[in-house]
Amino acid sequence: MVLNIGLLGLGTVGTGVVEIINERKDAIKKSTGKSINIKRVMVNNLNKKRDIDISEISLTEDFEDILNDTEIDVIVEVTGDLESSYKYIIEGLNAGKHVVTANKAVVSKYLGEFSSLAAEKNLAFLYEASVGGGIPVIKPLREQIELNEINKVQGILNGTCNYILTRMINEDKDYREVLKVAQELGYAEADPTADVEGHDTLRKLRILSTLGLQGKVTEEDILLYGIGSINSLDIKNIKKMDSTVKLIAEAKKFGDGFTAIVQPTIVKNNNYFANVNMAYNSVAFEGDHVGELKFYGPGAGKLPTANAVLNDVLDIGNNSYRKGNPLKDESLKNLNEEIKGKYYLRVSYINNETNGTLKELANQVLCEDEDMAIITNDMKLSKINSILSGLNLSKDRYFLAKIME
Ligand SMILES: NC(=O)c1ccc[n+]([C@@H]2O[C@H](COP(=O)([O-])OP(=O)(O)OC[C@H]3O[C@@H](n4cnc5c(N)ncnc54)[C@H](OP(=O)(O)O)[C@@H]3O)[C@@H](O)[C@H]2O)c1
Repeated sequence: MVLNIGLLGLGTVGTGVVEIINERKDAIKKSTGKSINIKRVMVNNLNKKRDIDISEISLTEDFEDILNDTEIDVIVEVTGDLESSYKYIIEGLNAGKHVVTANKAVVSKYLGEFSSLAAEKNLAFLYEASVGGGIPVIKPLREQIELNEINKVQGILNGTCNYILTRMINEDKDYREVLKVAQELGYAEADPTADVEGHDTLRKLRILSTLGLQGKVTEEDILLYGIGSINSLDIKNIKKMDSTVKLIAEAKKFGDGFTAIVQPTIVKNNNYFANVNMAYNSVAFEGDHVGELKFYGPGAGKLPTANAVLNDVLDIGNNSYRKGNPLKDESLKNLNEEIKGKYYLRVSYINNETNGTLKELANQVLCEDEDMAIITNDMKLSKINSILSGLNLSKDRYFLAKIME
């Protein structure tokens, strides 16, 4: 039996999909009894020079060629464009094809719609690669929600931020210098905003929390703080605390609702997350029966991401994926107002008024000069925010990080 794939996109991930299939075709056939065949590949530009041999690949620029091909069973969407990928996924499912995607932006925004349409049509909509790149995390979470109440999902979900923070800490390097190297190495985009300001992490948290907490968690429900304003003084202070800093995403049940936040977080050097370094990612979730599970691995990259995509494809080929819509339509109460803790706060170009206000918040003053850094009392984040906005500080003048208990 043959499982025919219509591949949308032949960039980094699409190329990895082709490479792994070419290498593992015989092994897959031997273990599953099925041949995986890439029947057609859609790209933006037919004339672009490719890194792989495409002599045996049938390329098209027209999605209709894939949609109308009745022999194609599975659409693998690895293009990346938000609006067009939405259309490809909806039309693919409506045409009776299973869909696998790595596109976190489209999954984050339309997960509910895709999941219910796929269930209605008795098809698979799978998105393992959209969170944590090569790390299997969506499938285990999907399995655990059947037996557990998931109380918390947490993780380091963006390789670019983690790479920048790791090198700043390990090599005492300046933020701009490391960002530039990250861009040269292809870890960071030319416009790094989506990564360093935390939008990419937020989308992944939205996916994990919608599935894990089993209710409606929208992108707007998640508080967002990026790493874009961290400087060398912060790194120096954090190291003096025997700690390191990570961009951590966390959603958890709280009271009769939930909280969800992406924020720079200072973790002790002996904490599990402190050892998730460079472009690696980690996801942890906590179920009331299974306890805490942690997953660690490469958060992106051609082959790890393509590997996750193909795990989904094989689950479809083996008919071993979980059926039905795993999401609940329940509204959850957003209690982000209640988020509290001790925070590290550094403000630059201090004047007398700012100095006085910060001292009122401080449990400990770490340094006071032109730049002032404090550790706050245990207090509500909303209170810190209202004080900061009262001081009228532009975003690049301060850095705020939660201190993990
Ligand atoms: N790269 C990673 O490590 C990674 C990790 C996890 C998830 N992802 C996700 O995987 C997806 C693909 O990422 P990538 O890094 O492979 O992207 P990429 O290298 O930019 O490749 C995108 C591919 O899609 C094609 N394409 C883009 N827009 C199209 C459109 N509107 N119609 C037809 N073809 C279109 C491009 O065609 P041309 O080649 O002709 O330009 C290209 O082949 C994204 O959603 C990304 O977020 C990537």
